[in-house]
Amino acid sequence: MTSYPIRLFGDPVLKQRAREVEELDGSLAGIVDTMYDTMYEAIGLGLAAPQVGVQKRLFTYDVGEGATVIVNPEIVETSGEFAYEEGCLSVPGLKFEIVRPKVVTLRGIDLDGKEVVVEGDEVLARVFLHEVDHLDGVLLLDRLEPAVRKQALRAIRDQDLVAAARHPDGPAL
Ligand code: NI
Repeated sequence: MTSYPIRLFGDPVLKQRAREVEELDGSLAGIVDTMYDTMYEAIGLGLAAPQVGVQKRLFTYDVGEGATVIVNPEIVETSGEFAYEEGCLSVPGLKFEIVRPKVVTLRGIDLDGKEVVVEGDEVLARVFLHEVDHLDGVLLLDRLEPAVRKQALRAIRDQDLVAAARHPDGPAL
């Protein structure tokens, strides 16, 4: 089993917009396999390609129904509200209650280029929103109220993120 190191807060790759995938080839399939291994090893419910330094618009996820990848995902519809203690593999050791839509419809393609449309509710919806944010260079910290964000940045400064990443305290995205 091979895995990628997960890029942590402060790494510029996490602040960039990833590019659309134009070719679905064997090398992409290899990247996805390694992302699956990386996601499970890190106890992730989802993992976006930029989190492993790959600047492509795709993410993997598994909320209990098997490993899945979505390429060039787009959020096409959202509804409702859902409060969830959100954690990020790139900001290990910290969780924040964030309110976001409860139901999210996502459209993208699979590794064969076939269109997929998936409706996610609650945790799956959160995974979709969180991972698409990663593809746009947005971190969960950017979704916090300014005062909470300030506090969070202070907490991150005082925290050894590399050590925290080694000891996950539950699933993150
Ligand atoms: Ni994340």
